[in-house]
Formats: sequence, C-alpha cells, structure tokens
Amino acid sequence: MTTVRLPGLIDPHVHLRDPGATHKEDFTSGTRAALAGGFTMLVDMPNNPGDPTVSPLALARKILAGSGKLLCDVGLYYGAAIGNAAGYEEVAPHVCGLKLYLDHTTGDLKVEELEAIRDIMLAWPQDKPLLVHAEDRTLAMVLGLLPLVRRGIHFCHVSERVEIELIRDAKERGLAVTCEVAPHHLYFTEEDLPRLGGYGVMKPPLRRAADVDALWANLDVVDVIATDHAPHTREEKQSDSPPFGVPGLETALPSMLTAVHAGRLTLDRMVEMMQAAPARIFYLPPQPDTHVEIDTGRRWRVSGETQETKCGWTPFEGMEMVGAVSSVVLRGKEVVRDGRVVGEPGWGQMVPPVA
Ligand code: NCD
Ligand code: ZN
Ligand code: ZN
Ligand code: ZN
Repeated sequence: MTTVRLPGLIDPHVHLRDPGATHKEDFTSGTRAALAGGFTMLVDMPNNPGDPTVSPLALARKILAGSGKLLCDVGLYYGAAIGNAAGYEEVAPHVCGLKLYLDHTTGDLKVEELEAIRDIMLAWPQDKPLLVHAEDRTLAMVLGLLPLVRRGIHFCHVSERVEIELIRDAKERGLAVTCEVAPHHLYFTEEDLPRLGGYGVMKPPLRRAADVDALWANLDVVDVIATDHAPHTREEKQSDSPPFGVPGLETALPSMLTAVHAGRLTLDRMVEMMQAAPARIFYLPPQPDTHVEIDTGRRWRVSGETQETKCGWTPFEGMEMVGAVSSVVLRGKEVVRDGRVVGEPGWGQMVPPVA
C-alpha cells in the first residue's frame, strides 16, 4: 500500500441545497460527502431552490441553517439578481464571491438583459471574485465585456473546445480570467446519454468527444477542478423532465487520481488545481493541521448506494477507480478513518474569505 499525504482539498463549486431543498442534500449530508471525497473546504452556490441567496436576509438564513451542522468548512457565494446590487457592499466581506447565472439551469437566477449584466459586473467590488455560468456564445459575450468593465472573472464548469480555446486566448492577451472544469465533463460525452438517461442530464450538458479531448489537451489552461456537486433525488432524475445536475463530491478525487495513475497529469498539478488554486482565487483561509491521506494503489468500483450524499446515485456508477481516501484530519481531529467518516456535525466552520 502506498500512502500519500495531501493538503485538505477545496471544492469551490457545490450546491448543498440547504435551506430550501434539503430533501436533495443538506449541510450535514453534503459535508459528510465532502470529507469522504477528501475535501475539507467547500464553497456553496446561491441558487437554492426555494430560497436563493440573493438578499442579506437570505444569506443570514443560510448561515443560520449551517450552524452546528457542518463536518467540514464551508464558504458561501452570493447570487446576482436584477435589482439586488444595493446589498453588495454589505454582503461582500461575508461571502467568497458573487455568482452570476447567464444561461438556463437549476433555479431561477438567470439574468437576461445586457444592461443588467453590465451593471452587476460594475456594482460588485472589483477586488472580489465574480463567477459566471456562461456557456458558448454567452462566454464570448462575457469576454467581450471584461476590458470594458475593467474586472476579472471566473468561468464555472467550462465544457467546450471553443470555450477553453477562447479562455487560453484571453489569458494570453492578459485578461484576468480563471476557469474550472468538472470531472463529469472530462469523463463522459453525449454518447453516454442513452446509458445514463436522466442521470446524465446537467448544465452545461455532456458534449462531443472532441470537446472532452480538448479539455484534456488544454488542461494547462484549467485553473481549478471543481465538482459542481448538484444532487437531485432518484425520483426527480427518473421523471419525464429530469432537473439539471449530478453529484460529484465522492468521485472527483478518485477520478483525478485515476487520471494521475494513467499518466494524464501529475499529482502535483492535481493538488494545484484542487487546493492551491481555489484557495488563491477565492481568498480562502488556511486550515492549520489539516491533511488527507490517499491509498494511491487501491482499486475499487463506484457505488452510489454506499456514498454519503443524500441523493444515493452517481453518474460514475460501476466505474473502476485507482486511488482512494484512507484518512482525513481537520484541525488536528481525525474526521475520516479507514475510509469511513468519523467526524461530527459542528466540527466544520462557516468561513468568510480572508480578503
Ligand atoms: C446546478 C444545480 O442543480 O444547482 N445544475 C447543473 O446542472 N450544473 C446548477 C448549475 O451549476 O448550473
Ligand atoms: Zn452552472
Ligand atoms: Zn453549479
Ligand atoms: Zn495522518
């Protein structure tokens, strides 16, 4: 057995659904899933079905909802909505960034009007992270605005060849752009859809093999691997109109370790994308005396039923992984032992950014 010690990993893109849709996930089940997957810090998205985080009061409700329930540390994003810019100065110090939805996805936060989009980009403090869900032409529109609004941007879940190529070009021209890719967009194509059914429905959707190849080929342009952990129940996913999103917290690290094993990237580069880069981009606080231990040689098969996430399924079902989490220590306390979560709700903290 080869044991490797890594820093506690950070997933800066999760949907823990608490409050508002806790039948899908909640702060306790979601942070348990995080620890099982080797993450000691998450940043939670604002599109809570039923209670989006778009007002100071909704943010206060979310902080309260997490109180006493967290097994790992959690930061929060605020949601951009038409007319909510007046609250930005007040909430900015308490959140890790502002999320702007520019395409249709889970929730009701899509902003359509160019004028509103520009005004939101100008209103959010320039030195605080602004994250966008922007696919295809929408991504190009954002790139076009950036020099005019004089700010940086983080592109969530990049999935297409043209997107990653445009981001490469933007970086080469000196624009302050960062981006993330989700493991499901590195491992599946639209050809997996017949097999996955509703379980393969997500935004951005699964793309062509050429897109997946381009993401791997341009991995040097990818700043962050983020799960976009977006659980929905089996009933919801098996319905005639399955909601968008897949869970990812417990398969992200194993899938990337499997890629390391296959020689597709180095372990150092993986850690850079799953710890150092998210910490730097979102100004996340250090976690003293915190680490993850990995059994790099362990082969195992993914099973949704044995996962900690409340949703009980995964698009990676049945896939063989090489590499598993054996233990996790958070602030000196063992929270995963022999691959089992032994931490308790309340040991994690809500973390405001450090800048
Ligand atoms: C996310 C969700 O369910 O909240 N769904 C998804 O398909 N990715 C929203 C999002 O990240 O776009
Ligand atoms: Zn999104
Ligand atoms: Zn998301
Ligand atoms: Zn240890």
